[in-house]
Amino acid sequence: MKVLALASILSTFAVEVLAMALPSTPFVCVNEEVLATYPIGKNKEVQARVLSCSDLPNVMGRSAGQKRQTNVCGNACTTNCFSPAGGGPNPNDCQVIADALLYDSQNIGALFNIFVGSPIYMQYASCETFFVNQASYNETYCRTDWSSIVSYVATNCQSQQNAHGGNCVASDQTWFIQVQTS
Ligand SMILES: *[C@@H]1O[C@H](CO)[C@@H](O)[C@H](O)[C@H]1NC(C)=O
Repeated sequence: MKVLALASILSTFAVEVLAMALPSTPFVCVNEEVLATYPIGKNKEVQARVLSCSDLPNVMGRSAGQKRQTNVCGNACTTNCFSPAGGGPNPNDCQVIADALLYDSQNIGALFNIFVGSPIYMQYASCETFFVNQASYNETYCRTDWSSIVSYVATNCQSQQNAHGGNCVASDQTWFIQVQTS
């Protein structure tokens, strides 16, 4: 079941990369405040932070939000690469983050929460990734899917694709994962 779900996610990516049409610009956390810092992975080599940013995109009008926690694990997202070519993260560095996420999935838990207004950031060497919640409600996501997306975007948004990193935006735009150079 898990394998099937992953296969369908990856094939969704493949189709959407071929069809890549959406314009995309990297998200930058303005007035960044670090709310928490912790290492992840077997050797604790990946740095993770919970951030607060003053410029969070909000697709739903936060004030209208209900108090609820929504599990968005497994939801499809569309990959956008950031052009032009050159200066992307080293996919091997991104793979260290992907592996650390898998390790934590097995050793800490499959799921994690992303509160409204607080993106989660991870970094190893040249690779950075963000999970940004754009909804008016708290979200729950799964470490295995973040891992797959980090690997996928890092590998498929490189110079050969006229890119330097990219993102994967949920179909309903309530979240996105960004992969970029630190
Ligand atoms: C999100 O979760 C936090 C911590 O449990 C809670 O304080 C906050 O009210 C929640 N926000 C929403 C919009 O439900």
